[in-house]
Amino acid sequence: MAAPQTIITRKHPHAIFLVLTLADSADIGAVRDVISGFTGTVRSVGSRNPEASLVGILGIGSKAWDRLFSGPRPAMLHPFIELRGPHTAPSTPGDLLIHLKADVTGLCYEVATKVTDALGGNATIVDEVHGFRYFDVRDLIGFVDGTENPTGQDAIDAITADDEDPSLQGGSYVAIQRYVHDMPAWTSLSTESQEAAIGRTKADNIEMDDAVKPSNSHIALNVITDDDGNELDILRDNMPYGYADGERGTFFIAYSRSPEITERMLENMFIGDPPGNTDRLLDFTTAVTGSQYYAPPGDFLDDPPPPPGGSAAAPAEPTLVATTTSAAEPTESSARSDGSLGIGSLH
Ligand code: HEM
Repeated sequence: MAAPQTIITRKHPHAIFLVLTLADSADIGAVRDVISGFTGTVRSVGSRNPEASLVGILGIGSKAWDRLFSGPRPAMLHPFIELRGPHTAPSTPGDLLIHLKADVTGLCYEVATKVTDALGGNATIVDEVHGFRYFDVRDLIGFVDGTENPTGQDAIDAITADDEDPSLQGGSYVAIQRYVHDMPAWTSLSTESQEAAIGRTKADNIEMDDAVKPSNSHIALNVITDDDGNELDILRDNMPYGYADGERGTFFIAYSRSPEITERMLENMFIGDPPGNTDRLLDFTTAVTGSQYYAPPGDFLDDPPPPPGGSAAAPAEPTLVATTTSAAEPTESSARSDGSLGIGSLH
């Protein structure tokens, strides 16, 4: 099995997230050089301060994949599916995702600038978020985040797309969303109301009993199972970000063996389970971005397959929109055929 990128780590206190789009006229050879140099860049910067345990992960979006590589593509890679229901989860542009984390922010900065300088005019940064540790790994809404992440072999199983992707093993699907919190509205709630919105206690981070946990709590809507009753996990690495005089929020990032797991959670949150029973947290936080990637194994990045033959011009990207829950899972081909999932509306 190909060695995955270093995704499963302890929680670092600093992170930088870069979302980039490739120019229509991008020099694909130059972009591929940056991609194949990525793990080496992280290694050489990290080795200057090994105690800071720098980690860098590179993800590639659906449209960019077809411009960059020939050969098999990740079986389930498609653009982020926009959700429109009681709440909206927008789908926003993103060809490359760079997730950097370390104990020292300067190392993340160093890789971020080296990579973007090397990409030059071939790419544009469409979102840059500097995340930080907030007390005992809390979001800015004051709750500990990451507690129920899978660990050990469970984490490896949760993020490794092997059975799902026989032709391209060892990779992981990545979904990101940037959320902006309405802090005045959230802090005007009592602690009990905030706890009911999350489904855990605030101070000591204990899960509420099922008998009292509201069905519209964040936890209730995000615990999902397969047909045999097995819980389906994703690995979250959210970070708070914010400015004293500006936006305050959470950068959500989740790694998974299949994008469908995260998509089901998002449907529960934004459309509701049952439809209309949406995540109470979303009354106080707004998703302003959403994009999806595949993080291939490190040796794929180091030595990628040749570029596609013929023109490397940007293909048209389909728009995927889901407006209500549906038994029919959206597929790449159905989505690509008419540019919309067309599965009705709650309105
Ligand atoms: C503003 C955005 C978000 C915030 C502030 C947030 C915060 C939290 C917090 C505080 C917890 C409880 C502690 C923990 O287990 O980590 C949690 C759990 C969880 N969240 Fe989120 N979250 C956000 C977005 C999302 C999204 C978009 C998803 C899925 C697509 C998600 C999936 C989960 C899952 C799966 C759990 C664990 C459920 C369990 O097993 O108990 N979260 N989140």
